[in-house]
Amino acid sequence: MGSHKSLFAAALFVCMLAGALAEDPYLFFDWKVTYGTIAPLGVPQQGILINGEFPGPVINCTSNNNIVVNVFNYLDEPLLLTWAGIQQRKNSWQDGTPGTMCPILPGTNYTYKFQVKDQIGSYIYFPTTGLQRASGGMGMLKVHSRELIPVPFDMPADEFAVLLGDWYNKGHKTLKRILDSGRSIGKPDGIQINGKSSSVGDAAAQPLAVMEPGKTYRYRVCNVGMKLSVNFRFQGHTMKLVELEGSHTVQNVYDSLDLHVGQCLSVLVTADQAPKDYYLVVSSRFSKKVMSTVAVIRYKNGNGAASLSIPPPPAENRAGIAWSMNQFRSFRWNLTASAARPNPQGSYHYGKINITRTIKIANSHAVVDGKLRFGINGISHVNTETPLKLAEYFGLGDKVFTYNLMKDEPTEGDNKLALAPSVVNATFRNFVEIIFENREKTIQTWHLDGYSFFAVAVEPGRWAPEKRKNYNLLDAVSRHTIQVYPNSWAAVMTTLDNAGMWNLRSDMLERTYLGQQFYFSVLSPENSLRDEYNIFPTQQLCGIVSGLPMPAPYH
Ligand SMILES: *[C@@H]1O[C@H](CO)[C@@H](O)[C@H](O)[C@H]1NC(C)=O
Ligand SMILES: *[C@@H]1O[C@H](CO)[C@@H](O)[C@H](O)[C@H]1NC(C)=O
Ligand SMILES: *[C@@H]1O[C@H](CO)[C@@H](O)[C@H](O)[C@H]1NC(C)=O
Ligand SMILES: *[C@@H]1O[C@H](CO)[C@@H](O)[C@H](O)[C@H]1NC(C)=O
Ligand SMILES: *[C@@H]1O[C@H](CO)[C@@H](O)[C@H](O)[C@H]1NC(C)=O
Repeated sequence: MGSHKSLFAAALFVCMLAGALAEDPYLFFDWKVTYGTIAPLGVPQQGILINGEFPGPVINCTSNNNIVVNVFNYLDEPLLLTWAGIQQRKNSWQDGTPGTMCPILPGTNYTYKFQVKDQIGSYIYFPTTGLQRASGGMGMLKVHSRELIPVPFDMPADEFAVLLGDWYNKGHKTLKRILDSGRSIGKPDGIQINGKSSSVGDAAAQPLAVMEPGKTYRYRVCNVGMKLSVNFRFQGHTMKLVELEGSHTVQNVYDSLDLHVGQCLSVLVTADQAPKDYYLVVSSRFSKKVMSTVAVIRYKNGNGAASLSIPPPPAENRAGIAWSMNQFRSFRWNLTASAARPNPQGSYHYGKINITRTIKIANSHAVVDGKLRFGINGISHVNTETPLKLAEYFGLGDKVFTYNLMKDEPTEGDNKLALAPSVVNATFRNFVEIIFENREKTIQTWHLDGYSFFAVAVEPGRWAPEKRKNYNLLDAVSRHTIQVYPNSWAAVMTTLDNAGMWNLRSDMLERTYLGQQFYFSVLSPENSLRDEYNIFPTQQLCGIVSGLPMPAPYH
């Protein structure tokens, strides 16, 4: 796990992160990113491994730990890793999106340094360069509550990290060639669970987890897929939801849960059934052909194979969407549970803050110059050689992008898309409402970097101002992704109090890659160190800022 040799780096980090408390512990990781053969659906293919593993190593840490990851890129292409849902307070320098950082070139290494400040929960990291996520490079990041901070459930006997989702056998290079040629990558080939897939009755399947009878276990489950929502359920066992994307929830019990692309949650499962094998069943949702896979959950000293009769998936189509929306509404924040929370002042009273800006986002697709593109409100984002954040910081933003090409309202009746870097100029500390309107027939998930937001509503049809009366202004879950059902809308609210350049993107990989994303530029009005860290002296520079002297530091 951690190595202790980088004391110098640690000292440097402390100096750089004014505001990071020296007593907050450091965890060091050395990661070698390589190609290697994997076969998540049983078909061998080139995968992206971290220290030889797929999924990659779990980062296990505690609130306020400082994380130092030295990433060595042994791939034949540039690489960037992002830490989705880690808020990177004052620190978009380390966010790992192409708009914030220069990629780690092949044969070189770069050391990420960030603090998991005032957060708890289950998160994922993954590559943001090209379509690399389709070949791996991802893993889980667990943030425990600090000692002395009570957790609203008894300490589980153990924890299991479960990364699951749809999968393509083609690999990221082939998929990228398909998208670059203007076509769609089409439907995934199947569903994987922790890099494997098994079918019911497969006697050779190795258990994903072993539970002792009578004990309770925490399963941290993330959908790391590229396109499909999934439903998961345990044969013969219920699940108690305890955490959703970094928030302790009201602890409802579920037979099955929908989990959308990019989302993580934790459930408690008690081994209270006859001691034998059971299946964890994962199936695709809202896709024409239902795909499913299973993993074996074993009881220690148990006796007997899992039953071949697996619990059925929830309804599909309209009834299934209504069911799923109801399940979303049953997710509530436990207001009395103690936990680290960013921005505690605003947290409890978000329903009383006046909205200063409403941004309504409609996803669309179009063929531009013969090629498929996806966009938001008429703009299809393209990455730039010089990361947006660096161009802006060096005072060269206007050489690289134009602010506010994307408007706060979608253009009605016009599906055209213009290709350009998309940067929305936001005002520091504005309280914004973001409405996601999905006028397409497929389900979408959206993610915002740098913040968590209150997911206050998900409803069918079109949004209108009077829909605000349906918002949950009391105990909506504070999270960083939101699903938007076909021909439906969702509303989220957040205070833009984290200065930096932050990516808002579709979590569907094909859509992200083909432009369905933009960046919020949130500037500290006074260039103050209180609001944002100085650029790290070790920050890689590229494009038009390479070799330039560093601008005057913040004060
Ligand atoms: C993970 O971290 C928690 C809290 O920091 C600790 O109790 C636990 O032992 C760690 N687990 C592993 C596998 O390191
Ligand atoms: C690359 O790795 C070496 C050896 O661990 C380390 O000393 C150096 O600081 C790293 N370089 C960067 C840019 O992180
Ligand atoms: C919320 O958290 C509190 C404090 O830990 C706990 O006692 C309570 O059972 C939780 N409430 C629900 C509904 O889960
Ligand atoms: C919110 O807006 C209302 C109506 O404009 C105003 O009366 C109220 O003072 C505002 N509240 C805050 C906290 O600014
Ligand atoms: C961004 O917004 C701020 C505050 O509204 C404004 O002062 C600034 O001029 C804007 N910058 C651009 C480039 O639009």
